[in-house]
Amino acid sequence: MSMAIVRTLENVGVCSLLLLSSWFLVCVVCVGGRPATFVQDFQITWSESHIRQIDQGREIQLILDQNSGSGFVSKSKYIFGRVSMKIKLIPGDSAGTVTAFYMNSDTDAIRDELDFEFLGNRSGQPYTVQTNIYANGKGDREQRMNLWFDPSADFHTYTILWNHRHIVFYVDDFPIRVYKNNEGKGIPYPTMQAMGVYSTLWEADNWATRGGLEKIDWSKAPFYAYYKDFDIEGCPVPGPANCASKQSNWWEGAAYQALNAIEARRYKWVRLNHIIYDYCQDKSRFRVTPPECHAGI
Ligand SMILES: *[C@@H]1O[C@H](CO)[C@@H](O)[C@H](O)[C@H]1NC(C)=O
Repeated sequence: MSMAIVRTLENVGVCSLLLLSSWFLVCVVCVGGRPATFVQDFQITWSESHIRQIDQGREIQLILDQNSGSGFVSKSKYIFGRVSMKIKLIPGDSAGTVTAFYMNSDTDAIRDELDFEFLGNRSGQPYTVQTNIYANGKGDREQRMNLWFDPSADFHTYTILWNHRHIVFYVDDFPIRVYKNNEGKGIPYPTMQAMGVYSTLWEADNWATRGGLEKIDWSKAPFYAYYKDFDIEGCPVPGPANCASKQSNWWEGAAYQALNAIEARRYKWVRLNHIIYDYCQDKSRFRVTPPECHAGI
């Protein structure tokens, strides 16, 4: 019950006009709160036996072995907002494994999807973080980077901010990717469909590590990835119809319309030092540069 009170208090500002007796229910629906436990906001999608709750559900462990990987999804879908989790990736020899954290509209034909994928590696070799963006059914927007720390040594925060202006992927407080809304210039941008929040841990040794050359060493199994501090703030769907269009949602506020000076500097540093692949530069793959890649966009 104490959790419910904390969540409610955070939303008092939004709902202060409502009667005391009804505001609790309404508040939970109108703006996503700050969940602390897994079961509050998530359900298992893949292999109950390969997900373990720790610390009364505040943390979970995903397991990959030769029998199965595992995965979970948010109970609700959200349109616009910010989602973040702390993740600690598989240590040691994780080659051939992929840990993913993403949002997905679950509409195959016209898929919208925002992806973080962590591609494992041999002991001592760096993980690769791949991001991708699908808008109105089209993806093929991969970027890959390495990290400035060992993501298996400790928890780090991975965040997706999605508002009407842009989508920003963050690693801790560092923006690693920005995709602007240029719908006005005919560039697809997800604005119509709500997305669920997903995570999975699976075997992908046909492509993940050094393009599939490095296979999973099953003698090192089971492999474990850890998650905690689940935080989804957005407009749940179904929910109030006008939620997504409200300029008063905090994630649409001035501070979230553009990177601030510190973020801009960090973003530049990441782009200069950590990018290893950018579809925008891949001339062999795209004879015509994708429109969103042009300078000034
Ligand atoms: C794994 O390590 C090798 C050697 O450092 C590197 O070329 C590669 O990009 C790393 N990551 C993946 C996912 O293959």
